Amino acid sequence: MKDKRYNAVVTGVGMYVPERIYDNSYFEKIVDTSDEWIRTRTGIRERRILENGGTSVLATKAAEDLLKSKNLSPEEIDVIIVATVTPDMFFPATACLVQDNLGAKKAWGFDVSAACSGFLFAFQTGCSLVESGNYKKVLVIGADKMSSIVDYTDRNNCILFGDAGAAVLIEPTDDKKLGLQDSLLRCDGSGKDVLYMKGGGSANPPTHETVDQKMHVLFQDGKAVFKVAVKGMADISYDLMKKNNLSSDDIAYLVPHQANLRIIDATAERMGITREKVMINIDKYGNTTAATIPLCLVEYYRDGKIRKGDKLILASFGAGFTWGASFLVWGMD
Ligand code: COA
Repeated sequence: MKDKRYNAVVTGVGMYVPERIYDNSYFEKIVDTSDEWIRTRTGIRERRILENGGTSVLATKAAEDLLKSKNLSPEEIDVIIVATVTPDMFFPATACLVQDNLGAKKAWGFDVSAACSGFLFAFQTGCSLVESGNYKKVLVIGADKMSSIVDYTDRNNCILFGDAGAAVLIEPTDDKKLGLQDSLLRCDGSGKDVLYMKGGGSANPPTHETVDQKMHVLFQDGKAVFKVAVKGMADISYDLMKKNNLSSDDIAYLVPHQANLRIIDATAERMGITREKVMINIDKYGNTTAATIPLCLVEYYRDGKIRKGDKLILASFGAGFTWGASFLVWGMD
């Protein structure tokens, strides 16, 4: 990383998952699948579904949880960045809706669209704003209502996804040993043909035909994505470790995007990291796209499993393709 004025450190966390649960037996009733297949092929047991409202509900509730736990006034927030591929609408940005819901009167904000890497891209962006010295309190939220774009007749994909929101607060510190140390982030648009939602944008505006052709739901060639996801996430995490002279012993936790337990295991194996040092909650929530990584951070922190000074590698792979890894030293007691 280039010279920077401050380091950007996580000083607060918050999360929201809806109450409604779809466990694997629900999918046994609606498509040709089984609890056993889903558990062994993906690691997922259940996921949460938001029944009313859009992604701004998930994002707002996660931010409110954070503000409450920090006893922070919304007016102290400088910037709100929401990572999502399921915004409430094209515009205004979900970040604006969250700003209004919170009453964050002095904030500006915007959305980041990078699918499952959305949180990492938004986190890097938020940290850069803080490192420059220009902003003191940046809220980065990963939130997706995947149930709004899932085709519940497609057994290949409907079992994978859930809805959630999770947030971190980033603030400056003079202690260069804490906070974000380094990131390697990438995108490659040649992946556009295996994971996408084609309808609704300027290339394919909504018509009766686009609806009939199921262009407003997610499509994924799971097998093709699986192969590149394993390689992409494992290689970039390994490269980041090498670049920062980190051995697997130095790392307290790998915090991987939760798309499939087998992808997570393959990444950990490549890094020489044992299962106990891998954050996993895919069994409870499925793939919540931009929310998976912050959701892991919140749960593990609140369970007392992360301590100040712990070295974490955050890693993701998603549509685009987008992928990356970040080396973060935890800064909260
Ligand atoms: N229940 C039962 N069988 C299913 C099924 C389901 N829900 N979904 C697919 N199958 C079937 C397939 O039709 C296929 O049957 P066939 O051999 O008769 O054609 C068989 O199971 C194996 O399919 P395959 O695609 O090889 O399974 P897989 O082991 O690759 O697992 C995924 C499928 C989707 C779980 C996996 O490919 C995956 O996780 N992909 C990556 C997802 C991801 O990381 N996305 C990243 C960003 S969101």
